[in-house]
Amino acid sequence: MKIAVVGKGGSGKTTTSAVLARTFARQGRATLALDCDTNPNLGISLGLGEEVTESLIALRDAVDTGEQEHASSADDLVRRFGVEAPDGVHLAVVSAIQNPEPGCP
Ligand SMILES: Nc1ncnc2c1ncn2[C@@H]1O[C@H](COP(=O)(O)OP(=O)(O)O)[C@@H](O)[C@H]1O
Ligand SMILES: [Mg+2]
Repeated sequence: MKIAVVGKGGSGKTTTSAVLARTFARQGRATLALDCDTNPNLGISLGLGEEVTESLIALRDAVDTGEQEHASSADDLVRRFGVEAPDGVHLAVVSAIQNPEPGCP
C-alpha cells in the first residue's frame, strides 16, 4: 500500500504522516516513510531528533547537487539514505524523480 500525504503548508501533512507511519509500524507492517517536502521535518515528528533529521536532509542535498548518485532501487534507497526511527519506521528524505521511467516509481 502506498499513501501520499499532500496539502497546503500548515495543514497537518507532517503530523498526519508521522502518526500514520508509526501506527502502521506498531501493527507490524514494514513501513517506509519518504519525506519529499521542501521543508523536510518528518524526522522530527517521527522522534528522530534534529541532528539525524539534518543529516538526512544533507544526504538529499548531496543527491540534488550531484555529489551522490540517485538510488537505483527502493532497497538501495533505504540502505544508503534511510535510517530506522522509533517503532521501526524507516525514513528517507528524498528528492523528485526528474525523468521517471514508465510505471509507478
Ligand atoms: N489534527 C490536528 N489538530 C490540531 N493541530 C494540528 C493537527 N495536525 C497538525 N496540527 C498542528 O498544526 C501545525 C502544522 O502541522 P504540520 O503537520 O507541521 O503541517 P504541514 O506539514 O502540512 O506544514 C503544527 O503545529 C501541528 O502541531
Ligand atoms: Mg510539514
